Amino acid sequence: MGKKFLLEHVNVPGIETLPVYQSKGGYASVEKAIKTMTPEQLIEEVKFSDLRGRGGAGFPTGLKWSFMDKKSEKPRYLVVNADESEPGTFKDRYLMEKLPHILIEGMIVSCFALGSKTGYIYIRGEYMYIVRILEKAIDEAYKAGFLGKNILGTDFSCDIYVHPGAGAYICGEETALLESLEGKRGNPRLKPPFPAIAGLYACPTVVNNVESIAAIPTIVNITADKYNDVGIGKSAGTKLISASGHINKPGIYEIELGLPVEEFIYSDEYCGGIWKGRKLKAVVAGGSSVPILPANLILKTAKGESRLMTYESLADGGFVSGTMLGSGGFIVMDETACIVRNLWTFARFYHHESCGQCSPCREGTGWMEKVLHRIEHGHGHMEDIDLLVSVAKKIEGNTICPLGDAAAWPVASAIRHFREEFEYHVKYPEKVKDPKHFEKEPFVSESLLMNA
Ligand SMILES: Cc1cc2nc3c(=O)[nH]c(=O)nc-3n(C[C@H](O)[C@H](O)[C@H](O)COP(=O)(O)O)c2cc1C
Ligand code: SF4
Repeated sequence: MGKKFLLEHVNVPGIETLPVYQSKGGYASVEKAIKTMTPEQLIEEVKFSDLRGRGGAGFPTGLKWSFMDKKSEKPRYLVVNADESEPGTFKDRYLMEKLPHILIEGMIVSCFALGSKTGYIYIRGEYMYIVRILEKAIDEAYKAGFLGKNILGTDFSCDIYVHPGAGAYICGEETALLESLEGKRGNPRLKPPFPAIAGLYACPTVVNNVESIAAIPTIVNITADKYNDVGIGKSAGTKLISASGHINKPGIYEIELGLPVEEFIYSDEYCGGIWKGRKLKAVVAGGSSVPILPANLILKTAKGESRLMTYESLADGGFVSGTMLGSGGFIVMDETACIVRNLWTFARFYHHESCGQCSPCREGTGWMEKVLHRIEHGHGHMEDIDLLVSVAKKIEGNTICPLGDAAAWPVASAIRHFREEFEYHVKYPEKVKDPKHFEKEPFVSESLLMNA
């Protein structure tokens, strides 16, 4: 059994209430941090823990905190990103629903470290029932003296607010989120300035994912040294993975970073293998925005090494034969899955969610959706395959925010690894008109299944 820093007590009855949470050691980190540590020591501790942002990009959390403008006289803010709209990712929902106090505890300690008196939880509109859970927990924390004025008799004061969004994927992008929190349309901002210098209301702001902030109490309680004992190299600690698709046991798993991908997919402790005794075809390892990998490349790197659940190992091979850990949305596809159909679904999503500010993303996502629609529905031409690659290349790196890249990468990687399947769609239009075409007659190149 791997270490559980976040979910150790998740199944304890009543753990969402303050008394039960405290009976399991909850809020000990607040006492330790604000009574025995300075903000600078805390930032150093988080840096030393090697915690990396769990929202997708994997940026080192302590380093991000150290960028906060310390000379500014303006108020500082901590904003927790609970927008969680990436297809395939549903871990923050679970964490907030089951363990609301771990997030609140992490926010209090983080606000203290950042010199902030105000924390916001920006949560996607569809999670209204979790808003109520969080508000109840925040109420309990105020009553127990963990929030409000002079926390635990010190001169540190802190307030936390929950702010629901209206359900737009783009509002998960940190600067669009800040716009939305300010009451405006969620359009991403040009960077620089970065939020650490000019974020919410043009004040120094740190935006962190729910899971990143929920990791802070453990780091304070057990020390950074012990935290980064778990994991490998710069992939330290544990990570929540939302596992979905054609597996026997879909769900949310807390893994130690460094676990072999093969063990994650096939062992009974985690996904329990591919359902219905079928073969593994492909995996999208970190949410819909990351490159898709065929079975052989997700289990082993191009060098033949066992692929591990770490930021580095999943990225091994770069954009040719690697992918990303991203937000940990692990989508597994068996031999009956149609890569073109899957890609078309993702493309529809990105087109719908593009905010429309930049032409390559606004127009390009629409083009990709249209071309994929016609290939999948038996009206494609061979030239369409390279047309898709060319549109994806024109979006990549040419937009204000990374949504454009997120839309382009899955297209480029699917064609790189599954070109034969796109060609099959063009060659056999009658067969692919049936949406369940590959369930009746799977099309899989044996070379891709080689090691599966
Ligand atoms: C289109 C788009 C959507 C995003 N959605 C989320 C999200 O739902 N949750 C999240 O934490 N980060 C999301 N991000 C990443 C954030 O911009 C930001 O990097 C993250 O919240 C930083 O937190 P971390 O350093 O703790 O990972 C998104 C980025 C993009 C480009
Ligand atoms: S890349 Fe797309 S979502 Fe991002 S700012 Fe440009 S148009 Fe909007």
